[in-house]
Amino acid sequence: MPENIDTLLKESRLYRPSAQTMAAAHIQDYESAYKKSIADPEGFWSDVAKELEWFTPWSKVLEWNYPWAKWFVGATCNITYNCLDRHAKTWRKNKVAIIWVGENDQERVITYGELYRQVNRCANALKRLGLIKGDRVTIYLPKVPEQIVAMLACARIGVIHSVVYSGFSAPALASRIQDAEAKLVITADVGFDRGKVLNLKQVVDQAVANSPTVVRVVVLRRQTPAAPLSGPKEIDWHDWLKDEKAVCEAEQLDAEHPLYILYTSGTTGKPKGVVHVHGGYMVGTYITTKYVFDLKEDDVYFCVADPGWVTGHSYIVYGPLLNGATILTAEGKPDYPNPGRWWNLIERYGVSIFYTTPTAIRLLMRYGEDWPKKYDLSTIRILGSVGEPINPEAWEWFHRAAGGDKPIMDTWWQTETGSILITPLPTVPLKPGSATRPFLGIEADVVDSAGNSLPANAGGFAVIKKPWPSMMRTIYKDPERYKTYWNTIPNCYTAGDICHKDEDGYMWFMGRADDVIKVAGNRLGTAEVESALVSHHSVAEAAVIGKPHKLVGESIKAFIILKQGEVESPALIQSIKDQVLHELGKIAVPSEIDIVPSLPKTRSGKIMRRVLKAKELGQDLGDISTIED
Ligand code: PRX
Repeated sequence: MPENIDTLLKESRLYRPSAQTMAAAHIQDYESAYKKSIADPEGFWSDVAKELEWFTPWSKVLEWNYPWAKWFVGATCNITYNCLDRHAKTWRKNKVAIIWVGENDQERVITYGELYRQVNRCANALKRLGLIKGDRVTIYLPKVPEQIVAMLACARIGVIHSVVYSGFSAPALASRIQDAEAKLVITADVGFDRGKVLNLKQVVDQAVANSPTVVRVVVLRRQTPAAPLSGPKEIDWHDWLKDEKAVCEAEQLDAEHPLYILYTSGTTGKPKGVVHVHGGYMVGTYITTKYVFDLKEDDVYFCVADPGWVTGHSYIVYGPLLNGATILTAEGKPDYPNPGRWWNLIERYGVSIFYTTPTAIRLLMRYGEDWPKKYDLSTIRILGSVGEPINPEAWEWFHRAAGGDKPIMDTWWQTETGSILITPLPTVPLKPGSATRPFLGIEADVVDSAGNSLPANAGGFAVIKKPWPSMMRTIYKDPERYKTYWNTIPNCYTAGDICHKDEDGYMWFMGRADDVIKVAGNRLGTAEVESALVSHHSVAEAAVIGKPHKLVGESIKAFIILKQGEVESPALIQSIKDQVLHELGKIAVPSEIDIVPSLPKTRSGKIMRRVLKAKELGQDLGDISTIED
């Protein structure tokens, strides 16, 4: 466990909410709402839970048997009842739930009433195949509405879904199917990626060949003419649903009944099956979506994630549907067919809330500001960022490009946390690069390895001090691995991230603890050095690693992608080093800089520094099943 981390980055810009943002906000005064919520977190969470519908009430809000939590003890519920029935019973039945746009611009619009019927048909079809409460289904679909329908249909009858991102290879898919012991796999013939056709069915065939638990495979055939099915195990999606009834009552489930398993990669070893449950997860995703994005009935909410990741689970599917929102979801990449893709969709559908990632922002930055300028983005009200620290340079660019005065919610959370934990609300003054403050009901801190709170500006471990409803309940079939999250630092949930708090209590995430670089006794987070690198006008993206060094412990090596049109030269390298010197000081200046065309990233867009490091040091690359290319 490293000792304290040095903080070098100083960011002094502050953005206050506009009068318009203030006037609209659900939470006007964060400070007092926060104080009240943590004075009585159980009271806070139970008030939130009462905004949703339960079949039977709880006898106790929380049962905390460290490190095991049960929330809403004794209650029964079903998350899909709150996502669907609650709206389909009211005027919202004809409200648009999902606007889907395919990579080829095909459009599908699905109302709450229609979504309710499709999910019920699919739930009935699952029952017809003999699936029952507690069974596992692997969903390996591209970003199409059927992916959402399948997830909700499983949840409707208490079947546990395991969505696997459709970019994973056959061995990665197989290991996830096998760990979950899935009986059914739902897939498609193909997916599309920047115009390329991806043969998903072939991947599934290989994976299923090694997965004896799978008894059936449902195939959504998108291509015409449809490719023939290849055996009695296989069923066509449309044939599967066509005779099913559009009503299927939601199963009344214990609040602690598992909703899904989502595999997330550890730095080493086999992927971890993070388990979330119906009750607490529903409460957490519902209220964070509502307050963080200040969601209103007439918003058009666009989250660019894929439901293959937790952001898609919580903030495309469950959170927005729980709120009865209109969700825009689009297949494809931000720069295909051109870098105006997302800005174009925002203009076309009048998007008011736009939730994206720092990686995508930096990609779009590379193409310059002329792209967003071509479009009318005036409908945007709130912006969001998730997945990595957003460096101030990218923050400023995003802020400018998307209209100039719209607040950016830099939301920090994890697959394991289920919902957003550290985040501004729209009325909180913003500092570019800081995820700001804990969400209501969340007690967070920055501590040393013994669990002592650190003073302002001292870097240490980000921890959560009390359980919260949407926290993971376990790692599937691996409770010991679950416990490590709660016993690395006594009595705290440890996220594995390093962070510091400033004088105002704002939290600044500095990277993963595993990636910390130690130079001459100083411990540096990767995010700060990378942020200083990309603040250079020629640099589009950067990743840094530590290399063993006889004298100083470790030296810093940087890998850099230049902006379009920039050319490598010794003078440029020197000026990049000067920039880091200016921003952070001598200690953080990389001793080596390599200009590279791309960086190894996970399929969800995170830079894999350990791969860069292993390659640099000529070591084994370890598990690279999650690598994008
Ligand atoms: O290191 C943090 C980073 O992403 C990790 C969680 O990754 P994952 O489980 O894939 O979930 C991604 C979507 C929630 C965290 O441990 N991270 C996520 N959001 C932020 C972030 N780092 C800094 N700032 C953020 N806003």
